[in-house]
Amino acid sequence: MIGKVLSAALVGIEAHLIDVEVDIAGGLPQFSVIGLPDATVRESRDRVRSALKNTGFHFPAKKITVNLAPAGIKKEGSGLDLAIAIGILVAEEVIPSQNVQGRVCVGELSLDGHIKPITGALSIGIACRPNHSLLLPAENSQEATVVQGVTAYPLHTLPQAVGFLNGTISLDQAHTDREQLFSTRPKEDDDYADVKGQDHAKRALEIAAAGGHNLLMVGPPGSGKTMLAKRLTTILPLMEPEEAIETTRVHSVSGQLVSNHPLLTVRPFRAPHHSISDAGLIGGGTIPRPGEVSLAHNGVLFLDESPEFRRPVLDGLRQPLEDGHVTLTRASGSLRYPARFMLIAAMNPCPCGYYGDRTRECVCTPNQVRRYRAKLSGPLQDRLDIHIEVPPVSVRDLGNHAPLPESSSTIRSRVLAARDRQRFRYRLDGIHSNAQLKPRLLKRYCGLEVPAQELLERALTKLGLSARAYGRIVRVARTIADLAGSDKIESPHVAEAIQYRSLDRRLEF
Ligand SMILES: Nc1ncnc2c1ncn2[C@@H]1O[C@H](COP(=O)(O)OP(=O)(O)OP(=O)(O)O)[C@@H](O)[C@H]1O
Ligand SMILES: [Mg+2]
Repeated sequence: MIGKVLSAALVGIEAHLIDVEVDIAGGLPQFSVIGLPDATVRESRDRVRSALKNTGFHFPAKKITVNLAPAGIKKEGSGLDLAIAIGILVAEEVIPSQNVQGRVCVGELSLDGHIKPITGALSIGIACRPNHSLLLPAENSQEATVVQGVTAYPLHTLPQAVGFLNGTISLDQAHTDREQLFSTRPKEDDDYADVKGQDHAKRALEIAAAGGHNLLMVGPPGSGKTMLAKRLTTILPLMEPEEAIETTRVHSVSGQLVSNHPLLTVRPFRAPHHSISDAGLIGGGTIPRPGEVSLAHNGVLFLDESPEFRRPVLDGLRQPLEDGHVTLTRASGSLRYPARFMLIAAMNPCPCGYYGDRTRECVCTPNQVRRYRAKLSGPLQDRLDIHIEVPPVSVRDLGNHAPLPESSSTIRSRVLAARDRQRFRYRLDGIHSNAQLKPRLLKRYCGLEVPAQELLERALTKLGLSARAYGRIVRVARTIADLAGSDKIESPHVAEAIQYRSLDRRLEF
């Protein structure tokens, strides 16, 4: 007899339902898995055999063939174990075949029959809607039921799964309180109130957060660049429900979710080390995994010490920055991971770190400085809308008598108001922030008042700003006007935006 059970496999962040067919025939004992399994799936033979034997089930000493269909999808990971074990029990008539109809079984088996967590449970839950119910590891059950309309049963052991399918054990359906997840903002340890002084940098970060702009910080060691960047997510709004689900799916397929935290609502902050490989940053590898750009989806990607990153790694950022996703081409087809993030880069002004510092002397030659800065390639610099210098914090600001810095929640309320204005303005255009304005929309929404236009033209010629800086300045000016609650873009808004192009000024190079 043939046993048929449904399971699921991941392709990118999508899950596909897989038919697991088990044929048990006479002949020499053999156990083979066909249908494009990877090494982990092939190893499931040993786990399934031990799990069945150690939980008191009969493991047939016959020729067992497991076929995974459709054969065109590469099956990766250990999540098919449970379905293969159940398939054998169906073929052996321990479980009647009609009892597994409409059920999707996923889970990794341990040798003693326990069911261990898998990756991508949220995507698998989505793939099961609305016609199938899902049997899955208990640790993943909260995550799978984050979206509406998923019926899921949490499991701890193989005998429990068999008992449930045979109707001898009843299980409670998993349930996640979505309302509660979205209604409270988790407590954050970091706050801008910890950062003394640096009002100029905080203002720039507020603008970046309000308009979704990419930002570069240049400053000497210890001036607080890392500290400032790390707090950026505390002034960003929580993710919208669809954003939260998309970002959680990416984290779920790469196995980075913790079971008591089934849904990410705070925007992710990713700060990869500069020794990262291109596969680590962009995604890929022999078993394809989302890279840091995708883990930062809807959040912040922070490149600290950015000139230390290898050039090809940085250049790999261009496609995701442009398209908002990463496409990986593989022998078995192409994969796409979402990757829309705010890029925040930090760097010292020169290799020794003290170029332009008033308190310490720089020991670098002009050539060294030029080479160091050129490491951040033109195309990447072009995509950084706001450049700021972060000088060392003054002793006066560090003292106890300095005014108390603003808290993140105060700054966030202004960011939220500016974001609301943008959402309303672009409600028919399919975008939601000024940073996403394409040239056509830029023209429609960012007309400058006459004095502002004249100021900008004067600045472009006088400061030697490149033509490509034009669009950047106008977008940032639009955000500054939004923060000021103004529909028009006026001279002060443009003037402030111009000062955020310090790296473009020919004078400094
Ligand atoms: N404005 C500030 N208010 C309070 N503490 C500060 C401030 N600036 C710096 N510090 C202190 O200095 C430490 C170093 O700051 P941080 O690591 O952010 O510097 P950095 O600019 O990233 O330096 P590097 O270029 O070496 O990476 C912080 O951990 C913090 O304790
Ligand atoms: Mg740092």
